Amino acid sequence: MKNSHSYLAAILLRAEWGLSVILHLKGSPSSPGTLNEQAIWPFFKKPYACGRGGCGACTVMVSKRDPTSQEIRHFSVTACLVPICSLYGAAVTTVEGVGSMKTRLHPVQERIAKSHGTQCGFCTPGMVMSMYTLLRNHPQPSEEQLLEALGGNLCRCAGYRPILASGKTFCLVSRGLRGHPQSKNDGDRRSKLFVKEEFQPLDPTQELIFPPELLRMTENPEKRTLTFHGERVTWISPGTFKDLLELKAKHPEAPLILGNTSLGPAMRSKGCLYPILLSPARISELNVVSKTNDGLTIGAGCSLAQVKDILAERVSELPEEKTQTYRALLKHLKSLASQQIRNMASLGGHIISRHSYSDLNPILAVGNATLNLTSEEGTRRIPLSEHFLAGLASADLKPEEILESVYIPHSQKWEFVSAFRQAQCQQNALPDVNAGMRVLFKEGTDIIEDLSITYGGVGAATVSAHKSCQQLLGRQWDELMLDEACRRLLDEVSLPGWAPGGRVEFKRTLVVSFFFKFYLQVLQELKKLIKPFPVPVSALAFMGSWQHKLPPSSLLFVDSHQPLQDPVGRPVMHLSGLKHATGEAEFCDDIPMVDKELCMALVTSTRAYAKIISVDLSEALEIPGVVDVITAKDIPGINGTKDDKLLAVDEVLCVGQIICAVVAETDVQAKRAIEKIKITYEELEPIIFTIEVSRVPGLSYKVVESEVPCKLLNARLIQGEVHVGGQEHFYMETQRVLVIPKTEDKELDIYVSTQDPAHVQKTVSSTLNIPINRITCHVKRVGGGFGGKIGRPAVFGAIAAVGALKTGHPIRLVLDREDDMLITGGRHPLFGKYKVGFMNNGRIKALDIECFINGGCTLDDSELSSWKFLILKLENAYKIRNLRFRGRACLTNLPSNTAFRGFGFPQGTLVTESCITAVAAKCGLPPEKVREKNMYRTVDKTIYKQAFNPESLIRCWNECLDVSSFHNRRKQAEEFNKKNYWKKRGVAVIPMKFSVGFAATSYHQAAALVHIYTDGSVLVTHGGNELGQGIHTKMLQVASRELKIPMSHLHICETSTAMVPNTIATAASVGADINGKAVQNACQILLKRLEPIIKKNPEGTWEEWVTAFEQRISLSATGYFRGYKAFMDWEKGEGDPFPYYVYGAACSEVEIDCLTGAHKKIRTDIVMDACCSLNPAIDIGQIEGAFIQGMGLYTTEELKYSPEGVLYSRGPDEYKIPTISDVPEEFNVSLLPSSQTPLTIYSSKGLGESGMFLGSSVFFAITDAVAAARKERDIAEDFTVKSPATPEWVRMACADRFTEMVYICPLPLEPPSHPTPWAIFK
Ligand SMILES: Cc1cc2nc3c(=O)[nH]c(=O)nc-3n(C[C@H](O)[C@H](O)[C@H](O)COP(=O)(O)OP(=O)(O)OC[C@H]3O[C@@H](n4cnc5c(N)ncnc54)[C@H](O)[C@@H]3O)c2cc1C
Ligand code: FES
Ligand code: FES
Repeated sequence: MKNSHSYLAAILLRAEWGLSVILHLKGSPSSPGTLNEQAIWPFFKKPYACGRGGCGACTVMVSKRDPTSQEIRHFSVTACLVPICSLYGAAVTTVEGVGSMKTRLHPVQERIAKSHGTQCGFCTPGMVMSMYTLLRNHPQPSEEQLLEALGGNLCRCAGYRPILASGKTFCLVSRGLRGHPQSKNDGDRRSKLFVKEEFQPLDPTQELIFPPELLRMTENPEKRTLTFHGERVTWISPGTFKDLLELKAKHPEAPLILGNTSLGPAMRSKGCLYPILLSPARISELNVVSKTNDGLTIGAGCSLAQVKDILAERVSELPEEKTQTYRALLKHLKSLASQQIRNMASLGGHIISRHSYSDLNPILAVGNATLNLTSEEGTRRIPLSEHFLAGLASADLKPEEILESVYIPHSQKWEFVSAFRQAQCQQNALPDVNAGMRVLFKEGTDIIEDLSITYGGVGAATVSAHKSCQQLLGRQWDELMLDEACRRLLDEVSLPGWAPGGRVEFKRTLVVSFFFKFYLQVLQELKKLIKPFPVPVSALAFMGSWQHKLPPSSLLFVDSHQPLQDPVGRPVMHLSGLKHATGEAEFCDDIPMVDKELCMALVTSTRAYAKIISVDLSEALEIPGVVDVITAKDIPGINGTKDDKLLAVDEVLCVGQIICAVVAETDVQAKRAIEKIKITYEELEPIIFTIEVSRVPGLSYKVVESEVPCKLLNARLIQGEVHVGGQEHFYMETQRVLVIPKTEDKELDIYVSTQDPAHVQKTVSSTLNIPINRITCHVKRVGGGFGGKIGRPAVFGAIAAVGALKTGHPIRLVLDREDDMLITGGRHPLFGKYKVGFMNNGRIKALDIECFINGGCTLDDSELSSWKFLILKLENAYKIRNLRFRGRACLTNLPSNTAFRGFGFPQGTLVTESCITAVAAKCGLPPEKVREKNMYRTVDKTIYKQAFNPESLIRCWNECLDVSSFHNRRKQAEEFNKKNYWKKRGVAVIPMKFSVGFAATSYHQAAALVHIYTDGSVLVTHGGNELGQGIHTKMLQVASRELKIPMSHLHICETSTAMVPNTIATAASVGADINGKAVQNACQILLKRLEPIIKKNPEGTWEEWVTAFEQRISLSATGYFRGYKAFMDWEKGEGDPFPYYVYGAACSEVEIDCLTGAHKKIRTDIVMDACCSLNPAIDIGQIEGAFIQGMGLYTTEELKYSPEGVLYSRGPDEYKIPTISDVPEEFNVSLLPSSQTPLTIYSSKGLGESGMFLGSSVFFAITDAVAAARKERDIAEDFTVKSPATPEWVRMACADRFTEMVYICPLPLEPPSHPTPWAIFK
């Protein structure tokens, strides 16, 4: 192990920096074998959510001293991609090092928690570290810097707004806590959710200093080559440039490892292994920057973040005409990946990786950049040409050469360079298509002297349209040229129908739309230079690109007039908020390794429907460290159900079905063994993926008000179809479980991330064939569930338990993101057909909706949760007297779909609302008029005959119209649309009647156990699980009110099946309601017992009263709530299935770019009826978080499967949940002034799910804008509604001459057999 000791010791890490790793590294690492392959996250134990740099959960700060400037650079990185060996001479700060509850909280930690920016808290350490790093560099950042810093941190719960609000308290010019738009009914009920003035100030002088040991190291830098030998990989870090060149000559196949953002993901997902890695991190020659009169040379080792700063500086120094290429690069450097990735990725690594989606290579290519290459043989210069980008050997680096620097020439007068990109989201998303374009005109004219165009995302490499450009030389920059250019470009940049990445028509449309944008931009520039210069009208209607703005923090809540000590109704911070922010909150996988623990990894089917012929485990069992492989034969009890096996027996029904599980000493060994298991299959038929071709009948249900046909009602009739795609839960904490077998009586302790521990307990019991009373499930907290942790955790718990029983060892099973997404299923995709009869005034006389949902390969929750609920909820807020709703769940060969926030409501109601929009279009009325006309207004009965009072619905609707100034904004949008051809605005307001709860009384039971201890402290336990929704906080608020003691006396430790048995899943928005009732009951019982003592000493203290114990009064009580009555008679289609309704309304406004399909969210106003909220901060957080998740469902989240049924979208790269830049620029949520619901705890309402559907207001605003574009283009007004409204859908719906060209210009030849598309979209 040459030099390894000094090398490792040089990674100086100290306890106050939050690093426990130093002790581990300074001695002999226990498993050096994997050390140099490993990213740092396991050492720092950072939250692990994707492992690919795409979510930011593992963000830490790295500090290094720059050898040239001697300045200390602090930058954020994603720990999952940072190899431990790359940290030579660097200091790493983790969230634990920033501050802690035991010592001192850092202001960032305090503010994110107190601003209610944490829910499940799994993303919080990453958020804190991104913000902390920003403040280390800019103690008073701008709002733009804040958005940039947080752009790479995903949060699935909180909806980002409160996180931004906390960050904004540090900003120099903050728009502050702006008041909510005034409503007539406001009165004095507005208030703040937090008080900024109470926060401790940020004092940069108090930050940790850079370790002096490291400073000394940089003063006298180590020049020796440092080598670290691992089991499979050797890491070599030369100290001089000469040594680097020598090493490259000796190991020409060895890659240079810089940021590891290209190599790392490839090593992980494609299993690439490089025996030698050369790290040039200490070579200062690769970081040299030199400016000349005609260009700029940037060292290949500079990070993309540094490149951004260098270019920005040059742009500020030079005249505009010289910086065209630099500005184009800067534009893409703002949206390329995240701040963390830009901090890690190097310019050299970016160029050499030659990803087809590269955002910089197309611009560098058109900008005539050249590459300075060096080897032991000497130096040479090659152009960054199309041949280089295509990897042609004659134009490429030689294996022994390295890229030393990149030369980017200045642009000149009469030269224009632009960059374009279109991705699923504005930020942190790989582009679908991008382009670099440059034109040079003959001086003083609009005659093309030189033209270069390159595209990314349209082939295996960046593609140059060289031929087309050559043919356009000498042409005038006019409409004729534009037409010809588009035809030529479509011809040259060809994409076959089966092209990887799919979206062929969309990509081809972007190819010409980008050129059109370039044409318009250049016209505007020529207009400035050539006078007079005629500019066509279309160019005047062009607008530049969008800049995202930060949403103001405007909120209000209903303040109550109650004793100060009573916390109910107050915005109490999440109980775990500070622990989330300091990293002290313990999730399932944070439980330290237990004695003799083993790891488990799952083997899944690669076939969609097949017979298992054989499973050969022999090679896998030979891998060192592998202990066993668990198969169905090892299950002593019941293997799931007949149709839904825990482990497949002789047949698989989908790709991703679990077949067996490897148990090994380490996670890495278990994963290696998986690759060695050989399974042979015999394909079966028919294989079915989509609802449309599903011939397998599932169960069907219907509710019917009356079957009167429309024609008898003299109504006009239209019919239509609606497609709603599925959705991945994307909880940040993937499924995980730790099973610890005990030595006695077959007892098991199970620590599991679940919404339903009793279900895990029962399933483990039946699988192992041991009584339930031997099994205890513990849930401390869950890093997000959203329905995805109701059923599935039982499967993982049971398989791990079989492993534990067989091996006698504790078993830890942690799914990585890819497996989690592959195996667990998600929201049901829906296909809806409707027929609607209506009058000219918009009154709907009859409505017939038939819905089909894709259940996947087993019934799972398809029957109860999604589909029966869906049918019952379809009517939403509308009173339509002749209704027929039918639903069918279709069996397909996809992973089983399951419960997801809203249980079918978000999909089904989109059909109803689409139908209303279609009626409005036919009647020539605004959709909101038709909505109003058909809404319930007075006390009434639903389609299933449940009585209800819609007063709050109408109040929410009116309030929403009022606070959003809807009618004014509708007019303004129309004015905007008249003036803008290529951009359109849309507004929509959507009402909501959401039924809360399960449609069965037994599901509404709850129990609680409250102990008072003799010191007066109280331990509360109840049946709900903390998923981030703040249930524990609310429960303590309830206990505090009931026992009349401060919350500081109360504590909740965990949810445990031993403390409260036979619990119901925490779901259906009723968790806090029903458990609150149980806690209330337990507290009231205790208080009743204490009453005689209190009466005797009414002036006594709580501590004095609890001495009641000495008088033989039990201080422990079980509370029980029997549940809300709920039933449904499906024969009659009648019942009272839901305890109550939540009402709300949302208004959203968007602007779409008709040329690319992108949209920006201008504003959203939500008014929700929360009755008397238990905790308005938590409830508003639930509404905002659900709204943003709904927005994702309806606009960006798209599941893609291969034609063989393999899920492509298995991580944050391919599956886009909303990021911080997707939050509407103005986002106002308000709660309706209190109304009463005597049924529930203190008249509160469960708000966990309802906000999800309100995300559809963004969808309908987009379709409103699309409709405006189509109207102007004279295209049919009605069009098939498809959710999500992705940029692809929007672009193709805004048909124009460019989309026409795509259809007219034939595609290149398809392969001889029938072409199979790259993907099927679900
Ligand atoms: C989450 C995520 C999001 C991303 N989003 C985007 C995006 O939106 N747009 C986009 O364009 N890109 C994106 N990328 C890709 C990213 O830009 C590249 O991965 C990155 O630029 C590669 O640089 P690196 O230093 O990390 O390369 P490494 O992974 O360290 O190395 C990559 C390759 O380059 C070679 N190499 C590196 N330096 C030299 C040199 N000096 N001489 C010779 N060979 C060299 C290595 O041998 C290796 O083969 C994303 C990446 C991630 C992980
Ligand atoms: S970015 Fe590291 S776990 Fe997601
Ligand atoms: S709080 Fe952000 S993911 Fe849960």
